[in-house]
This record gives sequence, C-alpha cells and structure tokens, in this order.
Amino acid sequence: MIEVANHARKYAHVPYSRYRVGSALLAGSGNVYSGVNVENASYGLAICSERTAYVKAISEGEREFIAIAVVTDNGGSPCGACRQFMSEFGLETIVIQADAGGNYSLTTVGNLLPEAFTPITLAQAKRRTRRTPKA
Ligand code: THU
Repeated sequence: MIEVANHARKYAHVPYSRYRVGSALLAGSGNVYSGVNVENASYGLAICSERTAYVKAISEGEREFIAIAVVTDNGGSPCGACRQFMSEFGLETIVIQADAGGNYSLTTVGNLLPEAFTPITLAQAKRRTRRTPKA
C-alpha cells in the first residue's frame, strides 16, 4: 500500500505548495484506491490526497475501509479536515503514515480524532429528541 501511495504522488497537482501527497485506500472489497492532492489557483479549493482516495472509492460503491496509507516527503499526518472526513466511514480504519524513505508508523482514524463527531452522534441525538415529551 505504501508503494501504491508513493507511486501515486507523481500525479499530485501541487504547483503552489510543491508538497506531494499520495494515498492508497484498502476497501472492504479488497480493492485499493489511490489518491493525490489536487491544488487550485484559488488556494482554498485544494483537495487532500486522502479525501481524493475516499471519494474515488465511495463513488465506486465502497463503504467499508480497512486501511489507508499516506505518503509524503516527511511522513506528515492527515490534516484535521481529512480526519473528520475519514471518521464518517469508520474510526477503526488503520492509518499508515509514511515518508518517502519508507519509514512508517501505524495508527487509526479514531486515534487521530479522539471524541469524533460521527453519524452515531447524530443518531443518538435524534433518538433523544424523539423521546422528549411535548411541552
Ligand atoms: N495535504 C494533503 O493532501 N493531505 C493532508 O492530510 C495534509 C495536506 C495537501 C494539501 C495541500 O495540497 C498540500 O498538502 C499542502 O498543504
């Protein structure tokens, strides 16, 4: 997976940051989806490699994710927006953070985003609202 993610980095569109990020996402089906960061002249529109990989997979019908490898020059960790995005599809998903030299560490989405706001949070709130008696 690290190899796939590292290979994908060459397709990153990074004319502004020059920071190439590649991902490889292993779905429950066994398929692996790659992703890269895609920047834009309107800087705020940049899309991270992790979200690219998830969106590619989700749009192919995937909903369960076993692991994601993320490769950068220096082993950078997924940004806050990606942590939240990934948490929607499972806190157990393993996150492999690797640098271009092949050094890596393992964690999970849940470890990266403690006390996550997830679909379960919303479902619990809805249940509680339904139980509240009318005034
Ligand atoms: N980036 C990612 O692709 N993933 C992250 O989790 C962190 C940041 C990208 C966004 C931008 O293209 C570049 O890295 C520098 O922030």
